Amino acid sequence: MTDTDLDAYCRRHQPRFVEELVAACRIPSISADPAHAADVVRSAEYLAAAALEAGFTSAELLPTEGHPAVYAERLVDPARPTALIYGHHDVQPVDPLEEWLSPPFEPQVRDGALYARGAVDDKGQVWMHLKAVETHLRVRGELPLNLKLIVEGEEEIGSAHFDALVERERDRLAADVAVISDTPIFARGVPSLCTGLRGLCGVEVEVTGPALDLHSGMFGGPVANPLEALARILASLRDPATGRVLVPGFYDSVREPSAAERAAFARLPFDEEAWRADAGEVSETVGEEGWTVLERLWVRPTLEINGIWGGYQGPGSKTIIPARAGAKISCRLVPDQEPGEIAALVARAVQAAAPPGVTVRAETHAGGRPVLTSLDHPAVQAAARAMAHGFGTEPAVTRSGGSIPPVATFQSVLGLPAVLVGVGLPDDQIHAPNEHFDLGQYAAGVRVIARLWDELAAALPRRDVGGD
Ligand code: BES
Ligand code: MN
Ligand code: MN
Repeated sequence: MTDTDLDAYCRRHQPRFVEELVAACRIPSISADPAHAADVVRSAEYLAAAALEAGFTSAELLPTEGHPAVYAERLVDPARPTALIYGHHDVQPVDPLEEWLSPPFEPQVRDGALYARGAVDDKGQVWMHLKAVETHLRVRGELPLNLKLIVEGEEEIGSAHFDALVERERDRLAADVAVISDTPIFARGVPSLCTGLRGLCGVEVEVTGPALDLHSGMFGGPVANPLEALARILASLRDPATGRVLVPGFYDSVREPSAAERAAFARLPFDEEAWRADAGEVSETVGEEGWTVLERLWVRPTLEINGIWGGYQGPGSKTIIPARAGAKISCRLVPDQEPGEIAALVARAVQAAAPPGVTVRAETHAGGRPVLTSLDHPAVQAAARAMAHGFGTEPAVTRSGGSIPPVATFQSVLGLPAVLVGVGLPDDQIHAPNEHFDLGQYAAGVRVIARLWDELAAALPRRDVGGD
């Protein structure tokens, strides 16, 4: 790769870029834990200050009914295109703490990676954007396009207040494209552009039987057992022979990938054995017949049981018929499934499967819509060129199985196409103990984003603002 003026600055300042990220990662901005609410505010304040330092001309906290977001902008010329950068400064909880080799909020560099909660999901990838802005301003004196930055504090808990925030701020957030760095590339040495994310919805099931736990000798036989009922209900949701979800209507709105997209996925250097090792050494893969492992992850919806409870779990035995049992179910969704609709279909199937003698309640949660970006969009093409520049290799085209609900909000509320330029690695252990960000990926990421602003400025149309 030939170094540009921007790359040379990045290389010279990379050690400081790492130090600054270390400081950001010291703040335990765990959004799920109310005890850390003040830390999430501190994280937002720290980020706003860093955005100003990097060269954004204004930066402020945007309060919500939950944790605050940060908004910053640098508007250079109304005739030039505008990119809206999105990320999140909140992080996942750290348990099990004893499995961390260094404390999650005392960042440590080991083997060329920065170990800390939030290092790659998503503080490090937000920092790439700040450092790319700094790089442009120090090297060239000005940005080639207008930038707006919104970094939320509740992504890891479902972005409950984010849609309302975007509605409220829709004028200020107006842009031509949304740019998000919060996804991994396909593999080390195989940079990739992510063109899809799955959506999410949930159903919580409660099965009630007798009003109290019963002696299973005095009542067992004629009384329905809520735990057995729950097991039958859950088992009815999938055909074990085909791996297909049996919820009526579940697949009706699924958009099938094109033959070309499937062929491109099939050409990716996928090593199933290595993938199974990363997936906690599972002995074999399972899933919906007719689809490959990558397709099951990226273009097919899932239904998962995330938790199940009920009855006696203490030492020894307790001969009861439990009064109640429950389970949490979630589905990863693909275009064009609607979270609210799918959750309702699952709830209906759960109700329909209820055996006699119990009462079933099913509560639905719409989590977020799936995302699909068009490879033909000039902004996505610009991102592919920026990736090729930053990594020295043409990016592959992938999708991701994870979810970032705000990306769909930018599409639906602001009408923005999304560009997903994440640079994490699949084994970064996000959400798990020993999360880390490879520092080579961090450096490449800053190069990619710095180049992206040049590519977008050249690829997107200028606006006619009259006057000159
Ligand atoms: N950065 C992830 C999303 C992600 C992970 C995309 C892996 C692609 C690959 C994000 O921070 C996340 O964890 N999202 C949650 C969303 C949920 C809390 C609504 C998810 O996917 O479970
Ligand atoms: Mn994330
Ligand atoms: Mn996450």
